[in-house]
Amino acid sequence: MISVKNITKSFGGKNVLNGLSLEIPRGETVAVMGRSGSGKSVLLKIITGLLAADSGEIWFDDTEISRLSTRKMNVIRRKIGMLFQSAALFDSMTVAENVAFMLSQHKRDMSKREVDAIVDEKLSLVDLDGVQDLRPAELSGGMRKRVGLARALAFNPEVILYDEPTTGLDPVTCTEINQLIKDLHEKLKVTSVVVTHDMHSAFSVATRMVMIHDGKQIAYGRPDEIINIDNPILQQFVLFGAPDQILNMENPILRQYLGR
Ligand SMILES: Nc1ncnc2c1ncn2[C@@H]1O[C@H](COP(=O)(O)OP(=O)(O)OP(=O)(O)O)[C@@H](O)[C@H]1O
Ligand SMILES: [Mg+2]
Repeated sequence: MISVKNITKSFGGKNVLNGLSLEIPRGETVAVMGRSGSGKSVLLKIITGLLAADSGEIWFDDTEISRLSTRKMNVIRRKIGMLFQSAALFDSMTVAENVAFMLSQHKRDMSKREVDAIVDEKLSLVDLDGVQDLRPAELSGGMRKRVGLARALAFNPEVILYDEPTTGLDPVTCTEINQLIKDLHEKLKVTSVVVTHDMHSAFSVATRMVMIHDGKQIAYGRPDEIINIDNPILQQFVLFGAPDQILNMENPILRQYLGR
């Protein structure tokens, strides 16, 4: 569905993405792993057109989108919902206004009643009801993530990009957010990309995993394939924080890297 081909991106002479390629097949939930600063957020911003790659291609189905006009890109953007790393809510707006933000930007002809109905529907999809008139400052971290997610759902996207959806949340809230990612995947039949360092989250939601290192993809596969790849950079990352059901598996690769 989304195909990232040989992307490069540097900032002030520092190469962040260095020939990165990645496949996001329709219907899958792809966890993107990589150390802090490895360019995961940059990758999501390049996919949505918020940042331009220096070279390479991004394909959405059979359209190459990295050099589209603003008008054509806006059509693609509506198919891609993004939950930003910081949730990126506007503090001066109510929850309802935050969720409606993109709708009011792109669909000025919609009546207030129509907008309100969509806002209510999206908030209920993320299990938040009755918070429409609150401001972001009155919400917990987990609720803010849900509001950011409700906003990302406004246009019924075909793909949702989650940037660190569980970072900074307590373990119970993390589990709830992971469950929500899985529920939305089921209910809405969306394709999902989840950027995370949280291995509990990655193993809980992912049907595919990819690891980025030095600006390139170094591993890709289903979770059961990933734990069988004999690559020290990957295994060091994955096994420090993987859930017990993974760590307790009798697997020669795991045993080697866990020093058992
Ligand atoms: N707009 C920008 N201008 C200059 N440098 C940037 C910009 N955006 C990102 N960078 C740099 O690109 C590198 C990758 O950043 P990015 O935010 O993608 O990392 P990340 O993998 O998401 O890290 P984290 O896990 O901490 O969120 C960092 O060194 C960052 O400083
Ligand atoms: Mg990031």
